Amino acid sequence: MSLIRSVVRGCGSYLPPDVLTNEDLARQVDTSDDWIVQRTGIRQRHVASAGEMTSDLALAAARAALADAGMAADEIDLIVLATSTPDNTFPASAVSVQAGLGITRGFAFDVQAVCSGFVYALAVADKFLVSGQHKKALVIGAETMSRILDWTDRTTCVLFGDGAGAVVLEAVTEADAAGRGVLTTHLRSDGRHKGKLFVDGGPSSTGTVGHLRMEGREVFRHAVGMITDVIRDAFAATGESAESIDWFVPHQANRRIIDASAQKLGIAPEKVVVTVDGHGNTSAASIPLALAAARADGRIKRGDLVLLEAMGGGFTWGSALVRW
Ligand code: ACO
Repeated sequence: MSLIRSVVRGCGSYLPPDVLTNEDLARQVDTSDDWIVQRTGIRQRHVASAGEMTSDLALAAARAALADAGMAADEIDLIVLATSTPDNTFPASAVSVQAGLGITRGFAFDVQAVCSGFVYALAVADKFLVSGQHKKALVIGAETMSRILDWTDRTTCVLFGDGAGAVVLEAVTEADAAGRGVLTTHLRSDGRHKGKLFVDGGPSSTGTVGHLRMEGREVFRHAVGMITDVIRDAFAATGESAESIDWFVPHQANRRIIDASAQKLGIAPEKVVVTVDGHGNTSAASIPLALAAARADGRIKRGDLVLLEAMGGGFTWGSALVRW
């Protein structure tokens, strides 16, 4: 029996057209462009328009990824959508994407791991593909964070934005993959930290949607150590290193966390893909948004070794190494 690899066939993204700059925010809460840029690197974020839902953003990103892959929607037999801001408590937003694409076979479901959602979704989809049960998967990260922000809380509302990104994976034999594909994934969580970054509502607690709450300093304090640990796990599993990777595509939460993680690992600054300035922290959407940007401008090329990582509420964290 031949072994199977999940190979990336395409990627795409979508940002809602409405832009909220730091200057716009400074007119709403006691903040400034200087403070936000210095502490986070964020200059603007996109905000979904009234009536535009997470599944709408996801659908647009999925269509872009399918077009990039040159693949018809009905070839897809698995959709894994990472989100913490679903359209409804249920059904999963993934089934809305499935219906929007006109797909009536296979299955679709949501994964909820906050900012680590895309790495979790990639790992889950990879397992289904390498098991031989499914052939072609859409892995999507999509969020409407604007709907769960407390717009009077300057410590959180300046950090987040809306958006979506997607990749298409295909199961191929190791011989056909010729070294390409998802090489390794590593997922972690530690629920002892669940109170440091959470939403203060939910169907079974308050019966409301709630707002995002965060102890920013505590998140920052843990982030770099957790990120670098799980990346070292990926290097140990594959024999790859900070020197051998071509691109580091981290979760786009905060420029300082990204820079500190890259520096601790010895990853050269020119290998780091940063898009947080243009869209803020889009949680599960941030990695595929950054991937799509680096593909579109020609940085990531076929055969490149791409390192992904994320850390977020839970805490959850994870890494993946992908030969593009
Ligand atoms: N504008 C102006 N002043 C502000 C703002 C704001 N938007 N927000 C907070 N302040 C003030 C605070 O009130 C405080 O004032 P004080 O000294 O008078 O009390 C001062 O700025 C410093 O506040 P800190 O919270 O200590 O600021 P810090 O330097 O830690 O930066 C930040 C805050 C940016 C949130 C930082 O802690 C951080 O980046 N944390 C990580 C959070 C994160 O990225 N979360 C994303 C989810 S998890 C993930 O994806 C990794």
